[in-house]
Amino acid sequence: MIRVLFNKKGGVGKSSLTVNLAAISATQGYRTLLIDLDTQCNSTAYLNVTDMPKESSIADLFEQTITFHLHRRPATDFCHPTQVKGLDIIAGSERLTELESELDSRHKIYKLREALDSLKGTYQHIFIDTAPALNFYSMSALIAAQRCLIPIDCDDFARQGLYSLQRKIAEIKEDHNEGLQIEGIIANQYMTNANLPKQIVNELIAEGFPVLSEYIGQSVKMRESHQAKKPLILLAPKHKLTQSLVSIFNLLDKSE
Ligand SMILES: Nc1ncnc2c1ncn2[C@@H]1O[C@H](COP(=O)(O)OP(=O)(O)OP(=O)(O)O)[C@@H](O)[C@H]1O
Ligand SMILES: [Mg+2]
Repeated sequence: MIRVLFNKKGGVGKSSLTVNLAAISATQGYRTLLIDLDTQCNSTAYLNVTDMPKESSIADLFEQTITFHLHRRPATDFCHPTQVKGLDIIAGSERLTELESELDSRHKIYKLREALDSLKGTYQHIFIDTAPALNFYSMSALIAAQRCLIPIDCDDFARQGLYSLQRKIAEIKEDHNEGLQIEGIIANQYMTNANLPKQIVNELIAEGFPVLSEYIGQSVKMRESHQAKKPLILLAPKHKLTQSLVSIFNLLDKSE
C-alpha cells in the first residue's frame, strides 16, 4: 500500500509520523520503503541516513527523467537500507528545488507513480513524506499514492486548511488518481487536559472527516527521538507515545 502523509500546514507532524509509522511497519515484518520528498530532508536526517552512495537520492531519480540516458536506472537503485531492519529509504535532497520548474514544465508529474508501480512487488508498505506545500512533488505523491493520511495539530488553522485540502484531493482523484482515498486525519499533539483539541476533533468527526480513533499526545519523547536520530519503536518501544503510534499503524488498511 502506498501512503502519502500530507498537509499544507507546516509543523503538524508529517515527518515525525512518516518515520515512526514506517519504522513500526518494518518492525512488524513488512518490507517497507520511506520516500523523503521534502527539501528540508527531515525524515532522512531523523533516520540518520548520511553516507549515501553518490547520485542516489530522490533528486537523482527525478533528474534521470529529464536527462538523456541510454539505460535508465531502475527505481530499486535509489532505495537504501536504514538503521531499522526491513526499512529502506529513498533519501531527500535539497536539489529538488532546482529541478522542480523543469520537471513541471516537461510534464513529469506521473514519473513518481511509474517508479512506485515498479516497486510494488518489492515493498508491502511505502510511506511518503512531503513538504508543507502543494508543489510539484506533493502533487506527484498524491498522484502516486493509494491512501492519504493528514496529520493535524488540533488547532483552528489546521481545521480551516482541511476544507481546501479535501477539495484539492477530490480534484486530484477525479483528474489523475481515481484510487486515491483519504484514509485518515491523524490528531497529533492532542492535549487531553485542554478543551480546544477535543472540540476541534469532535467537530471534524461531526462533519464527516475520517479522524482516526487513536489520538497522539504531545510528549517531549518525540523531540528526544529526533535528537537521538532513532525512531520511537527502537528508542522507547514501551512509551505511551510509541504505543499510540503502534495503534495508529494497526488501524491502517493492510491490503496490498
Ligand atoms: N506528538 C508530538 N509531541 C511532541 N512534539 C511533537 C509531536 N509531533 C511533532 N512534534 C514536534 O513538532 C515539530 C514539527 O514536527 P514535524 O517536523 O514532524 O512536522 P512536519 O509537519 O513534518 O513539519 P514541516 O511542515 O516543516 O515538514 C517537531 O519539532 C516535532 O518534534
Ligand atoms: Mg516535515
